[in-house]
Formats: sequence, structure tokens, C-alpha cells
Amino acid sequence: MENLDWKNLPFGYQKTDYNVRCYYRNNAWGELEVSSSEYINIHMAATALHYGQEAFEGLKAYRGVDGKIRLFRWEENYERLKNSARGVMMAEVTKEVFYNAVVKAVKLNERFIPPHGTGASLYIRPFLFGSGAEVGVKPAEEYMFVVFVTPVGPYFKEGFKPVKIAIEKETDRAAPLGTGNIKVGGNYAASLKAIVRVHKEGYGSPLYLDAKEKRYIDEIGAANFFGIKDNTYVTPKSESILPSITNKSIVQLAEHLGMKVERRPIDVEELSTFEEVGACGTAAVISPIGEICDLTENKSITFCKDGKPGAMSTKIYETLVGIQYGEVEDPFQWTEVID
Ligand code: PLP
Ligand code: COI
Repeated sequence: MENLDWKNLPFGYQKTDYNVRCYYRNNAWGELEVSSSEYINIHMAATALHYGQEAFEGLKAYRGVDGKIRLFRWEENYERLKNSARGVMMAEVTKEVFYNAVVKAVKLNERFIPPHGTGASLYIRPFLFGSGAEVGVKPAEEYMFVVFVTPVGPYFKEGFKPVKIAIEKETDRAAPLGTGNIKVGGNYAASLKAIVRVHKEGYGSPLYLDAKEKRYIDEIGAANFFGIKDNTYVTPKSESILPSITNKSIVQLAEHLGMKVERRPIDVEELSTFEEVGACGTAAVISPIGEICDLTENKSITFCKDGKPGAMSTKIYETLVGIQYGEVEDPFQWTEVID
């Protein structure tokens, strides 16, 4: 077991022992290769570098209360990567290559899986990019798929404590018929200006509104948005947000816990009517929101007035995390033990 300060891990890159790679050449995927190098050697005219032919995923491995290692809903990540590949005309990774590479990367780096009870987990980052050289704007003929892992703590430094969010009005992350619904690198490039600006002002993340009308809530940085009122879980319906696997899971959990669920456009004016609001994602898990500020109008709405996450968010959080760490029953068979 690696000797790290597990309880205080940031959400950041930490070197591990190995990564797993696979090359697509002559219309076929090759064998998985294990590497201990953190670097990759690619052609300077690779389409990933010039035309953004790149997509990635994010999932986690958890050390359970029983000492076993669990993956959470990896097939959903596989399906989403396939969709992202289609969206930017890349060769699709096969399910077998995806799963075998993920499992290999986790097992080879087992000593970096945070111990149970530390609140940390092993973040798994599969990514796919055009490695073939082109100068004309067209899809590459060669691709590379890589999986690396890194132990992480909470995405927002607050952990499961209310975070402050700022409404973004100066830039758009994604266009209605653009690439917001797939997980391609370009979306994150387009989000950097807003992230840096709101961080400087002391906010954890920007909240993006729909690009067309600047009226409906899209999502929160690298997480989906949810609001809760009248025993109802409400989350945006939009073509330009990433379909979050965490959110999809919470929708099922909320129903399981006896709540109603609504997936519909959420007017930003509706924000003040919610009893609880939060951000959800693999990295963000469930992050309660304590304040949403409209920086252009200098107006804030506050939630969690006692400084604590709301009761419903807490219940959902505990159930979700309990399933991930094997502490509570997994009625949906979302986790897979890897041995
Ligand atoms: N939205 C964006 C833009 C993201 O990058 C992520 C993270 O993957 C999410 C939402 C949450 O998705 P998931 O719950 O599948 O991690
Ligand atoms: C994830 O939750 O996996 C994300 O994509 C967040 C990441 C962009 C930091």
C-alpha cells in the first residue's frame, strides 16, 4: 500500500505505476500494452492536437467495506465513450478493449486504491484520440486509447459541504446542436475562461445557462445540476449537457426513496423556489450548493442556511456512496467486484 495522506487527497494528478494503451491501425485494434511511462509519443500532425479529435471518460474504483474493489457502472461509461467517438468521427473502442484496459489499469495500480473509510477513491481516466497525421480537416486513420488511474479526494475542496456557484453569462460551454452532449476535450477548453474567472472570485464552479436564450439551466462545470422541492427531484432536460451517469443513478435512487422525478427545462428564475440544490457527477459525487450568485447583477440566492447539506441531498448522497463502497445493498446491480 502506497503511503499517502489518503484523507486529504485533492482531486488532482498523482503518478501511479502503470497505464494501459491500445492502438488502432489498419482498421483494427491491437493488443493491450502496459506502460510505466507517463508520456506518449505522437505525431506532430495528429488530428487530436489540431482538430480536437479527442474524447475521455471518468469513472471510479472503490475499496469496499469488505476489502473488495468495485467499479461503478462502467458499461455506461463505455456506451458514452462510443457515442463521443461517433460525435467526432473517431474509431470506436470495443467493449472488450475498454473493460480489459480499465480492469488491468486498476489491478496493476492496486496499491494506489485509497483504503476504505478515507472518503477517497481511484479515478479512472480512459481517453481516445486521433493519433494519425492529417493536415486537411478530416478524421484520422489511426487512433490511440489509453487508461490511466490516479487516487483522488473530493472535486470541490469543500467535500460534502455547501459550495458556492456563479452563473456564467459571458461565455457558452456548448451550442444546442454542438458537442455538449458528448465528452470531448473541446467542451472543456471552451469552459476554461469561465472556470478561471469564477475561481478568482471565490466560486467553486460556473453554472452554464442554455446558449440560445440564456434562460434555462444547463449544467455546472463538470457536473449536472439538480434541485429538490416538494419531495420532487428536478434536473434539466437539455440537448447541450452531458448525460451524467451519476445523475441517471440519482434519478433511480430518488424514485426508490419515494420521491417524484422531473426532467425538464429549468428557468433560472425558478432557482429561488428550490429547497435544496446541488451538483452531481463522478468527480463531484453529490455536492450541495450553498449559494448561487449572478455576478453580472450582483445578486445571490442562498441555500443551506444552517451551513449544512439538506436532508434529501444527504439521504441520496449516503445511499449512492454506500452502494459504491459496498456498505449498503445494491438493488440495481450498479457495482461490479473485480478480483
Ligand atoms: N457534466 C460534465 C460536463 C462532466 O464533465 C461530467 C463528468 O463526467 C458530468 C456532467 C457528470 O457525469 P458523470 O456523472 O457521468 O460523471
Ligand atoms: C468527471 O466527473 O469524471 C469529470 O469529467 C470531471 C473532470 C472533467 C474533472
